[in-house]
Amino acid sequence: MNIVSLFSGAGGLDLGLIHAGNTVIWANDIDKDATATYRKNIGNHIVCADIKDIRLDDIPNSEVIVAGFPCQGFSQANLLRTTNDGRNLLYKFFYMAIKTKQPEFFIAENVRGILSLGGGAIIKQIVSDFEDAGYVVNVTLVNLADYGVPQTRQRVFIIGQRVDIGEKMYFRFPQKTHGKDGKPQAWVSIQTALEHYIDPDKPNNYLNHIYSSYKVEFRNFTGHRATDRNKPSPTILARGNGKGGVCAIPHYNGKRRLTIRESATIQTFPEYFEFIGQMNSCYRQIGNAVPVMFAEILGQELVRLQCEVL
Ligand SMILES: C[S@@+](CC[C@H](N)C(=O)[O-])C[C@H]1O[C@@H](n2cnc3c(N)ncnc32)[C@H](O)[C@@H]1O
Repeated sequence: MNIVSLFSGAGGLDLGLIHAGNTVIWANDIDKDATATYRKNIGNHIVCADIKDIRLDDIPNSEVIVAGFPCQGFSQANLLRTTNDGRNLLYKFFYMAIKTKQPEFFIAENVRGILSLGGGAIIKQIVSDFEDAGYVVNVTLVNLADYGVPQTRQRVFIIGQRVDIGEKMYFRFPQKTHGKDGKPQAWVSIQTALEHYIDPDKPNNYLNHIYSSYKVEFRNFTGHRATDRNKPSPTILARGNGKGGVCAIPHYNGKRRLTIRESATIQTFPEYFEFIGQMNSCYRQIGNAVPVMFAEILGQELVRLQCEVL
């Protein structure tokens, strides 16, 4: 399917959708480094601009719109009317894009916390907004480790299907392929994902195989817990070193933090994918991304719908 991508970042979601056989025709992000990374590895169709400065007329029509819209401004219900936080404008832009462009499907990704914001009122409002815009909407919380990603990352996917396509939701949310209990297959451990990498302090040819000097100390706090080599990695973060930078996860050797390359591998980016920018910016682009492997699974469902249903 043809896809328009909003809040595209470095392009984790887009790359997976493309790997599955879809085409991203237009993308946007405000971040210079993320768009440079996207351009280098994916394509020139990304526009670097604040979404608020883009007119809906300038966005091409497409069968699908995807977005990982930021949700920091969601402090109260009725998002479309709340104007006291400028960040709500980002949600409103996404909403207006769907309402005006009426793609067949939309896919939005967000953090788990969106489910509990306002005691659940925010997610209810989001679903109701999109139902009013003419969509059947499904909200699914996933642990990406259940799909073979070597990371226990929990994220929410909001999928919309235009009502005229059918009364029931034809988009089948992908079945789990892995499980903590080993069924259908065992979760993939961080060691399995990373053990082939050469020590970054030794000469090597890997791209972005450098690591943050942020001290490794174990304080039983996010980003400061020992990493168990036999389990999937904890969530790759996009912030949190206390100085405005990103807290990379400790390597399971307990001696250093993961390199940019290792973090990207945990997010299932291919090894040829090169991140552009200073170290913190690269870590942030990676922490913000949808794991490429899971995006590809979602993309395969779009391809199936194109071939079998539409
Ligand atoms: C969660 S990330 C999306 C990551 C992406 N889906 C991926 O898989 O790599 C959200 C993105 O929204 C972008 N963003 C935030 N405010 C924006 C704005 N006003 N206009 C355009 N993009 C914005 C950020 O730069 C960030 O890259």
